[in-house]
Amino acid sequence: MDKFVIEGGRKLQGTIRVNGAKNAALPMMAASLLLEQGDRLVLRNVPNLVDIRTMGTLLGKLGVQVSRTRDVLTMSVIDDTPVIAPYEIVKKMRASICVLGPLVGRRREAKVSQPGGCVIGDRPVDLHVRGLADLGVDITMKRGYLEADASNLKGRTVYMGGAYGPSVTGTQNILMAAVLAEGTSLIECAACEPEVQALADLLNSMGARIRGIGSPRLIVEGVKNLHGTDTSVIPDRIEAATFMAAAAATRGDVRIEKCRPDHMIAPLQMFRRAGIETNQGEDWIEVHSEGSFQPIDITTLPYPGFPTDFQAQFMAVMSMGTGISIITEKIYPDRFMHVPELRRMGANIRKEGTCAIIAGVDHLVGAEVMASDLRASAGLVVAGMAAEGFTEIHRVYHIDRGYQHLERRLCELGARVSRVSEKKDLSLIRDVV
Ligand code: EPU
Repeated sequence: MDKFVIEGGRKLQGTIRVNGAKNAALPMMAASLLLEQGDRLVLRNVPNLVDIRTMGTLLGKLGVQVSRTRDVLTMSVIDDTPVIAPYEIVKKMRASICVLGPLVGRRREAKVSQPGGCVIGDRPVDLHVRGLADLGVDITMKRGYLEADASNLKGRTVYMGGAYGPSVTGTQNILMAAVLAEGTSLIECAACEPEVQALADLLNSMGARIRGIGSPRLIVEGVKNLHGTDTSVIPDRIEAATFMAAAAATRGDVRIEKCRPDHMIAPLQMFRRAGIETNQGEDWIEVHSEGSFQPIDITTLPYPGFPTDFQAQFMAVMSMGTGISIITEKIYPDRFMHVPELRRMGANIRKEGTCAIIAGVDHLVGAEVMASDLRASAGLVVAGMAAEGFTEIHRVYHIDRGYQHLERRLCELGARVSRVSEKKDLSLIRDVV
């Protein structure tokens, strides 16, 4: 197991490029299950991450041949009979649930392990199940597996609204089932995230007929079959926002290229409200940070609201602000695992129900902290780069699920972040950093 050792207090400066979005690439890869045998799906700008490799392994078990050349993934179906997504893989990555919709759509049968507990909170799949049932799928839970018989799959009306808003991967699953269902489906209260739009665009380029893309009402006219295509994955808006946070926290000057500012309106507005200077063009953002951060009041919401996946990183910035900031989590009410770790670094944060009340401190101080999930870890990296002295972040395998070569790329901006095997002694490392 590796850890990061960060020597904080260094201003980030320079230019960094954003990779393709993991959360867009994963369902797009799953869409290969909708192909006819012999057709090929080519995806470009695919980040090389643990989660992407896990999806590749799962698709392999489902008869899809997946190959990678640099950032290009090519997928083709060589056997369209397997329908089982086993627990051994699903337990590693919840996004494995994205194979449920296309299996139902194309193979009319699925047996997908139900994802288990998750550190960021309860993550049920009832909206996926109810949505598929609305499409006429007979779906039951047996011994930890969702078993679906889709012999009566039909285009119908599906309502995706849940207690915490629509489900992103739920909407993607329903879309992938509906594109090959006979008749017209209406998906009401659909998730509008750019990653859902990207999947719908991909499906249309494979021959699907989806209207209303980007809106909460998707209309899908079922077609008989889909064909191969070649497309690019959208830039990762959360990675881009994480770099913005890193620049702001270290009082840096950073240009972030190959990003989509139009997918990042809420984070950009919040940076401005906090008094952090940003400039933007069609595919770039510049952050220039000096002076103090003004307190802000943020609530995470479904897109186009402020993303929950950027909550921890922004909290790290605001913990060094002035006055009292409030962050309310409306997607995952328990997603505050980073709070006690930030406190170990001197942050003054109180969790109150689904809110974090942050009294800004002048500076953070390096400490040993524990990464609990992908975005919490990214928040700790941001804090560590701004803090005085050394920070050690244990269990950084979480980071590798969503950020490719993060430490290397941050070092190119002047950060001092080293990946170290947990076995080595810190005294040896300080020379290396
Ligand atoms: N929910 C239900 N029932 C369901 C599904 C979801 O109540 O059937 C609830 C969830 O518990 C949560 C809310 O609805 O409170 C939203 O969950 P959603 O289903 O939208 O999340 P997801 O599709 O499982 C994706 C991202 C997450 C991101 C969320 C919210 C992927 C692969 N994952 O998850 O990304 O946090 O949407 O935006 O797209 C991450 O990248 O670190 C990450 C966790």
